[in-house]
Amino acid sequence: MKAIVVSRYGPPEGLKFVDLDKSIPKENEVCVRIHATSVTAGDAMLRRMKLPLRWIMGLFMGGLGKNKVLGHEFAGVVESVGDEVSQYQPGDQVFGSTGMKGGAYAEFICVSEDSMIAMMPANLTFEEAAAIPIGGNTALHILKTGSLQAEQNVLIYGASGSVGSYAVQLAKYFGANVTGVCSTRNLKWVKEIGADETIDYTQDDFTKNGKSYDVIFDAVGKISRSLCKNVLRENGAFLTVRSTTKETQENLLLLKDLIERGKIRPIIDRIYTFNQITDAHSYADTGHKKGNIAITVIPSQK
Ligand SMILES: NC(=O)c1ccc[n+]([C@@H]2O[C@H](COP(=O)([O-])OP(=O)(O)OC[C@H]3O[C@@H](n4cnc5c(N)ncnc54)[C@H](OP(=O)(O)O)[C@@H]3O)[C@@H](O)[C@H]2O)c1
Repeated sequence: MKAIVVSRYGPPEGLKFVDLDKSIPKENEVCVRIHATSVTAGDAMLRRMKLPLRWIMGLFMGGLGKNKVLGHEFAGVVESVGDEVSQYQPGDQVFGSTGMKGGAYAEFICVSEDSMIAMMPANLTFEEAAAIPIGGNTALHILKTGSLQAEQNVLIYGASGSVGSYAVQLAKYFGANVTGVCSTRNLKWVKEIGADETIDYTQDDFTKNGKSYDVIFDAVGKISRSLCKNVLRENGAFLTVRSTTKETQENLLLLKDLIERGKIRPIIDRIYTFNQITDAHSYADTGHKKGNIAITVIPSQK
């Protein structure tokens, strides 16, 4: 099968196509023919990672050596299943995340049926579905740790990123009054996806406008709790993407349900083909994508 590996850590040009043996599903695994994957901020960061940090991260990721298959999100069709698999059958459309181990920049992937995988939301394309698991789960998991309540004032810093755009929509769904912080060009659509108010970070400083918040969620890892101390209410929560998150099937199923009910949706900035992976990573490296970048592995009609 065709796969994309990191032949050299650094610029996007280090990504190379290789031919690998297609793996066979173990007893509890499903083998998915991948139709779409994505470029997350994390994929781009791993590709750029230098030693010795790469060695340390590799300990958690089954190695980050030469010729590692990148890619952490996928959507596709189940091709075959192991003998003990009970929830899926060939032909099912599924989406999911590989967890820390990567491997989604490939034509096929085998994952446990109990891992971060679910039936695809009925109303989405493969590209849209592939852009949900990481940004959506991260936003949901972190908002849950903040015990968000209806009517609370929540500020999402970096509302136009992948995590940020899910956080705005989820906080709105949970009944919060949402303020999204983004740059001028993103103000309009961040309001359209649910922010009650927006603050343009290129013009205004949210720490100096006299307002205070019950929850501040830094969705791009650019601010600190100490910066927010004067605008965080007593017992207020500072949440950040820098914290450790956990991927759960329960969260994935909630995201699927909310999408099917029209409560949230993935924001797709650009879609690239598999062959354009270098361009896609170059764009992710700018740090200014709007929502998500999807990669078409197999062009489809859906
Ligand atoms: N803990 C975890 O499990 C986990 C999971 C996923 C992601 N992450 C981390 O979360 C971070 C965000 O990921 P992502 O995929 O959502 O990022 P992203 O999509 O790459 O974020 C890009 C967005 O950030 C905005 N932005 C850039 N600089 C900003 C600034 N100074 N102030 C406000 N907004 C700014 C950009 O808007 P403009 O173009 O307007 O500047 C752009 O829309 C990354 O560091 C990633 O590694 C952590």
